[in-house]
Amino acid sequence: MALRPPGRRRRAALRPAAEMPCLLRPDRALQPAPTRYDASTLAAFPLMPLIRFVLAQLLGWALIFAALKAGAPLTGLWLATGQGVLAALASRALRAERWWHVFHLAFTPLIWAASLLGIGAGWYLAAFAVLALFYWTSFRTQVPLFLTNATTTAAVLDLLPRQPAQVLDAGAGTGSLLRPLAAARPDCRFVGIEAAPGPWLIGRWLAAGTPNVDWRRGDFWAEDWARYDLVYTFLSPVPMPEVWAKAQREMRPGARLVSNSFAVPEARPDFVVPAARAGGRELYVYSPAGNRKAPIKG
Ligand SMILES: C[S@@+](CC[C@H](N)C(=O)[O-])C[C@H]1O[C@@H](n2cnc3c(N)ncnc32)[C@H](O)[C@@H]1O
Repeated sequence: MALRPPGRRRRAALRPAAEMPCLLRPDRALQPAPTRYDASTLAAFPLMPLIRFVLAQLLGWALIFAALKAGAPLTGLWLATGQGVLAALASRALRAERWWHVFHLAFTPLIWAASLLGIGAGWYLAAFAVLALFYWTSFRTQVPLFLTNATTTAAVLDLLPRQPAQVLDAGAGTGSLLRPLAAARPDCRFVGIEAAPGPWLIGRWLAAGTPNVDWRRGDFWAEDWARYDLVYTFLSPVPMPEVWAKAQREMRPGARLVSNSFAVPEARPDFVVPAARAGGRELYVYSPAGNRKAPIKG
């Protein structure tokens, strides 16, 4: 996650519209992103992944203590690895996503290894505080921080309306998308809403003095999307059904939703900017109001 000082290379990275054609047609075998969640699941159980993680860890510890009681000669790394394996199996039984199993496998062995280094407890607290500032509610939203690259930003620039427009980056990170766009399109107004204090603070510093960027700390779900001509999201597969519902409810006819990397399940985009033309990321472009009455199934 490379952070750049304000202004550096940002203009050079943006290419004119004529260089960015080659859009996938919507009928070109676009598969909806597979997802095991929908909006109602998320709303009802926003802490589910966290609860599952804690449960799997507790089960791992309960089983390893049972093994110790039964006389298993486990100490040190073997004990930690045993707990990791049992927690990973518990995670699998609890039907967590696969990558959680890997976390479980490594979690206790890494704690054991770190304990050998003799690092002071204060450093762990400091590292936790820094991570918390940057990842904030990621455990609940399941949207981590990663940044839009310069080539993707150039592709988004070409998707902006020709006339002056209002643009929202919902979950704006450090403003890596908005600042170059704002520099390239002084006629447009760009709003960035970011929940996590760490990236928001960096974004605030970097965007200071950019008059057409309105940089806010808050929750983009609380914002009315009706005032925007383009809403950009770079989130994760998890909130996409809810993003789509909000966009359909609120966005005006003619307004566009652009999702970096994550397709809306069961909705057909107007077109897709292929990864080869957008910095290795597909850009899914939708007209939510156009789909309001008759959502097209994929
Ligand atoms: C993958 S990053 C994308 C950052 C930025 N849009 C970019 O493209 O560089 C997603 C960001 O959304 C933020 N986020 C997630 N849910 C949010 C919410 N409900 N309101 C505001 N920000 C949110 C996260 O904190 C994270 O920084």
